[in-house]
Amino acid sequence: MRMTERITKAVIPAAGLGTRFLPATKAMPKEMLPVVDKPAIQYVVEEAVEAGLTDVLMITGRNKNALENHFDRVAELEATLVAKGDTAKLEKVNQSTDLADMHYVRQGDPLGLGHAVLRAKMHVGREPFAVLLGDDIIDARDVLLARMLEEQIARNASIVALLEVDPDSIHLYGAAAVEATDEDDVVRITGLVEKPAKEDAPSNYAVIGRYVLKPDVFDVLEHTQPGKGGEIQLTDALMEMAADVEGTGGVYGVIFRGRRYDTGDKLDYIKAVIQLAADRDDLGPELKPWLAEYVAGLGRD
Ligand code: G1P
Repeated sequence: MRMTERITKAVIPAAGLGTRFLPATKAMPKEMLPVVDKPAIQYVVEEAVEAGLTDVLMITGRNKNALENHFDRVAELEATLVAKGDTAKLEKVNQSTDLADMHYVRQGDPLGLGHAVLRAKMHVGREPFAVLLGDDIIDARDVLLARMLEEQIARNASIVALLEVDPDSIHLYGAAAVEATDEDDVVRITGLVEKPAKEDAPSNYAVIGRYVLKPDVFDVLEHTQPGKGGEIQLTDALMEMAADVEGTGGVYGVIFRGRRYDTGDKLDYIKAVIQLAADRDDLGPELKPWLAEYVAGLGRD
């Protein structure tokens, strides 16, 4: 029997080397790259907190001190802003400090996403928990995580987020074989393949970086063998859980139809910055007409 119906823990793997963004990420974690004026990772922590997950465990690696510093106090800066009476800036500084109860564990060897999640075992214990991947930003105006938490509780199963993608990009994701349920935005996962070739993909449903998992995933990850790319894949562990409905409750997918921004590669990152800036009240009114003019100019080249 479940001790509590409330899920409070979020796990955020952030140990990747960020090689796609070199040289920017030579001495700085990629999670700290600003998306407009906030580090990408702060959007993700804010999303977790918004869904009620106030206990955040980050799986980090070497070179990640900036992450811990970002969510900690910065006494000298605060004192300077207090002395100046600049409350607006002080609020911005304190926003990330007061956000959540932050915890950190290092991954050690970079053996894959499954391995990173397994590092959360001690902290999470035997409760369901969420996993949020830092490359995906979900628009704060759209609901995904809260819906996944609701389904986890209702079905006592593990839940992944699914996005319908163009068949030409399915090779970038875990792809799901699905079966309809009685709910329009929920499917039962019958199979999962990590980054399949277009012709081998079971569907156009891509797993995006949000999961709400039962702690059984740790037992499975303990024996999951390296898969695609020689890495211990979370997708492979979930595949095993999907097949073992009796033992693990199975895996369901919540289909997300809202706005999602990918900050995982350069082009998508640039698009995310433009889209989010254009939507902001402080920047949009000036940025949008400039963008329109700029784009019209491109057409004349
Ligand atoms: C990871 C997962 C993949 C998932 C993706 C979502 O891949 O392994 O199944 O579809 O995140 O962003 P990564 O993008 O870390 O290579």
